[in-house]
Amino acid sequence: MNDAAAKTVMERCEFLSSISEDEEGICRPYGCESMREVNGVVSGWMHSAGMTTKYDAIGNLIGRYEGEGEETLILGSHLDTVRDAGKYDGILGVMVAIACVEKLVGGRLPFSIEVAAFADEEGLRFGTTYLGSSVYAGVFDDERLKLEDRDGVSLARAVRDFGGNPDAMVDGGIKADGLLGYCEVHIEQGPVLENRDLPVGVVTGIQSQSRVQASFTGVAGHAGTVPMEGRKDALCATAEFILEVERMAKDEPDAVATVGEMKALPGASNVISGEARVSLDLRHPDDEVRERLRDHLEARAADIAAARNCGHSWEVRQENIAVPMDERLTGLLVKAMESSGLPVCRIPSGAGHDAAQMAVLTAPAVLFVRCEDGISHNPAESVTEGDVAVAIDVIDRFIELVAEMRNPT
Ligand code: GLV
Ligand code: MN
Ligand code: MN
Repeated sequence: MNDAAAKTVMERCEFLSSISEDEEGICRPYGCESMREVNGVVSGWMHSAGMTTKYDAIGNLIGRYEGEGEETLILGSHLDTVRDAGKYDGILGVMVAIACVEKLVGGRLPFSIEVAAFADEEGLRFGTTYLGSSVYAGVFDDERLKLEDRDGVSLARAVRDFGGNPDAMVDGGIKADGLLGYCEVHIEQGPVLENRDLPVGVVTGIQSQSRVQASFTGVAGHAGTVPMEGRKDALCATAEFILEVERMAKDEPDAVATVGEMKALPGASNVISGEARVSLDLRHPDDEVRERLRDHLEARAADIAAARNCGHSWEVRQENIAVPMDERLTGLLVKAMESSGLPVCRIPSGAGHDAAQMAVLTAPAVLFVRCEDGISHNPAESVTEGDVAVAIDVIDRFIELVAEMRNPT
């Protein structure tokens, strides 16, 4: 039934995976050339599906399928990726949304559909997340314009270079009036659906997260001449901190904490490290627990630095509270699944999604698609064409149900 549409979605995900900043593997940080190229290709597909397109102040690509009436349903996800990424994280949601609009073949709905292809969800370049959806949702905090990437390029500069307008980002959101909700299709990135032998599931909520940049400063010196006693080795302080992060998260039920990035300076094998910087990604379903764990790690970083006569800094780059999905909109997804004869599986999301940010603007709902072995943020990320066909079917039906809700017969 949706075999042809699913085949197109798979082919498009495959094609986009060839557009990357890195020669080996997929990597599309915010504002880079490959991101610009992907936007061009995807906007062509949006036009073929009957949409008009535009870019907002940060460079999110927005497709619009005009309907009758003033109301708008938003579908979408993100087109940026992590480093050495898979083909489907974010991309699948945008491709399924376009496929569902394409299937309307010009038919008029009692509302319009916007397909939002967000320019930054992963936060790879600036160590934050949801930059794209925060602008679209009208909640962008302009303090973030000062953030710098690894090369010292500010977000404000990156937005300008990408053709956006940093001065318009705070007020650059979609109008909140007349929104019917936001629905995102996303790969599960975990093993639950596969373990239950189910193609799709509905998300109950998205857990909270903190992202921090921490650094330790010591004294750089000669590896052969400075005695071990009395060294101020920033990398050793960092190593101690990383193991504390792991120990703490293992001891706290439902907590996950990751140091995924580290830079040692000056970075030579015969030089004691004078400075080391690390990222921290900390998540928990309960905001209070996450805040307690974050404060604990901040205190431990200070203790570790002091015990080694090192300095340290602690910059909280972003915090996102836990976000429940909207019961009414999720109820329509459930109804859509039931009407296709699918068992309904409800799952909390460990990963962050644009839906968490969109929740400040309108009712959010997320449909998960099974992914092989639950692997994600990894080139091995894999979904089947059959499961994608099921997801398209559910979203088709979901759009019909939103229309029926608008025009009760
Ligand atoms: C997004 O993929 C996240 O949860 O980090
Ligand atoms: Mn994603
Ligand atoms: Mn991701």
